Amino acid sequence: MLNLILFGPPGAGKGTQSEKLIATYNLKHISTGDLLRAERQAGTELGNQANEYIAKGELVPDAVVIGMVRNYMQSHAEAAGFIFDGFPRTIPQAEALDQMLNEFNTSISMVLGLEVNEDELVKRLLLRGQTSGRVDDQSEETIRNRFHEYLNKTLPIQGYYSDQNKYHGINGLGEIGEINSELCKWIDSVN
Ligand code: AP5
Ligand code: MG
Repeated sequence: MLNLILFGPPGAGKGTQSEKLIATYNLKHISTGDLLRAERQAGTELGNQANEYIAKGELVPDAVVIGMVRNYMQSHAEAAGFIFDGFPRTIPQAEALDQMLNEFNTSISMVLGLEVNEDELVKRLLLRGQTSGRVDDQSEETIRNRFHEYLNKTLPIQGYYSDQNKYHGINGLGEIGEINSELCKWIDSVN
């Protein structure tokens, strides 16, 4: 199985690049943000509770997202591999993911990090907020809070994967197609 983590701060392009990669490599896309928004859309209790965190730009509790990922993987057991987008976001999530993949007799193949500076992220997300309807794209304060959550809680997992020689950072600024080519180059080097 080819199991990739697309890593990076809010607005780095994880969703945009995942869409391209799933088509090229026939992978299943797991975006915990998309799964949480779908729960909210469906009006479930989980979705409503998660939305309170999302609206403030804070992370949703680990147990909630780990459970969602487990369910998704179990219902796509025949997949050729997965792209994890926006997950894991904390060390406990990374440890839980390793354990879940181990149950599937597989592991993370590589972690590709999209590196983009904070001001560019704020610019991208405020622009998207004009049309996305995403509750967390509406104010600069919320967007910067998402970025600070990333620095405090998510960035440490870069070290977790660097220690396993699995992390590769990629410049996330520039043309979407060029960034995609760069990602494919790394994936093809192990695949
Ligand atoms: P989530 O949905 O994961 O959002 P995020 O990581 O904050 O970031 P985005 O999805 O906004 O950005 P992206 O990197 O996917 O970039 P995109 O391609 O969209 O999480 C939302 C919330 O859910 C979290 O804050 C948290 O509350 C909760 N949550 C989710 N997962 C969780 C977890 N595991 N644990 C706990 N809580 C969790 O691109 C962004 C914009 O930039 C788009 O408009 C795009 O068109 C544009 N763009 C893309 N590439 C380029 C480029 N190269 N140049 C110019 N513009 C570009
Ligand atoms: Mg996304």
